[in-house]
Amino acid sequence: MRKKFIVSIVFLGLVAIFACRKEQKPPARPESTGDKQTKWTIGMSQCNLGEPWRVQMNADIRNAADQHPELRVIFKDAQNDSLRQRAQIEEFVNAGIDLLIVSPKEAAPLTPPVAAAFDKGIPVIVLDRRVLGDKYTCFIGADNKKIGRAAGEWIVERLSGKGRVVELKGLMTSTPGQDRHTGFREGIKGTSIDVIFEADMKWLEPDARREMESALARFKAIDLVYAHNDPGAHGAYLAALASGREKEIIFVGIDALPHEGQVYVRQGILGASFEYPTGGSEAIAVALKILSGESVPKEIVLNSRVFTRENIERGGDWISPKEVEDE
Ligand code: FRU
Repeated sequence: MRKKFIVSIVFLGLVAIFACRKEQKPPARPESTGDKQTKWTIGMSQCNLGEPWRVQMNADIRNAADQHPELRVIFKDAQNDSLRQRAQIEEFVNAGIDLLIVSPKEAAPLTPPVAAAFDKGIPVIVLDRRVLGDKYTCFIGADNKKIGRAAGEWIVERLSGKGRVVELKGLMTSTPGQDRHTGFREGIKGTSIDVIFEADMKWLEPDARREMESALARFKAIDLVYAHNDPGAHGAYLAALASGREKEIIFVGIDALPHEGQVYVRQGILGASFEYPTGGSEAIAVALKILSGESVPKEIVLNSRVFTRENIERGGDWISPKEVEDE
């Protein structure tokens, strides 16, 4: 009797263990959602949704994916936290996604989880900000160095080669911040443009406003602010407005969203805004190719336009910095 009892306890124990293990298995891929015949699940790891530009990137991805019933995209927002983004990428991998799209907050901390996904055989599309090394399938983004250089050259021309400039940098642990800085410095090289104040505003409008308040307090004369994105340029403008100095300063930004930077240019708040395409629809086109077994280039470089008061009504001008011809 006792033996029988022990045998049944062991049996029940084994059943319980197997039931738990089954639960821990990654969820089966959805074959259909409603009338959609989902074939592939894409995980999209977005570093932050605090800026309009990133909301637009997600919308571009969603709109492009909606044209393809065989695709399902799951979005995760890391809320500007590299550790959270890392964990979210790992969650995607454990859930058995077919492809990862990632727009990483910072290069170094996000490189290992992206490489781990790639090493597991999951195709990875890196969008806009880069990771280190080459453990990804395809990078899609505009050339930030070229944009920075074009901004530098535009500023040289606008200031006739001479003036005091404030540079409000994007997060310098992210690659667009580094490239928009080096490109800009190349663009103003050999001129009498003097960068009198520079600070890392981490892509954030409130930080840019605070940094600009310091610049305004320290310097009586500022001719122009070069901010690495439009929220930064707008934050600087608000600081200048609050101290009644907005009319003496030209503000230049990057992104040129139709409902953000381009509006600022139309309103005369920004002297120029350089387009930074989100690459969202391109990412879906590339994802489809990868998932269908086609090969794709390792790098896809998107073009950029500059919008000024003079050219905005005709849709801006494509940028082509002088140095590019020498490359
Ligand atoms: C949004 C943003 C954009 C900028 C891009 C650079 O988070 O700061 O304004 O162009 O990221 O990666």
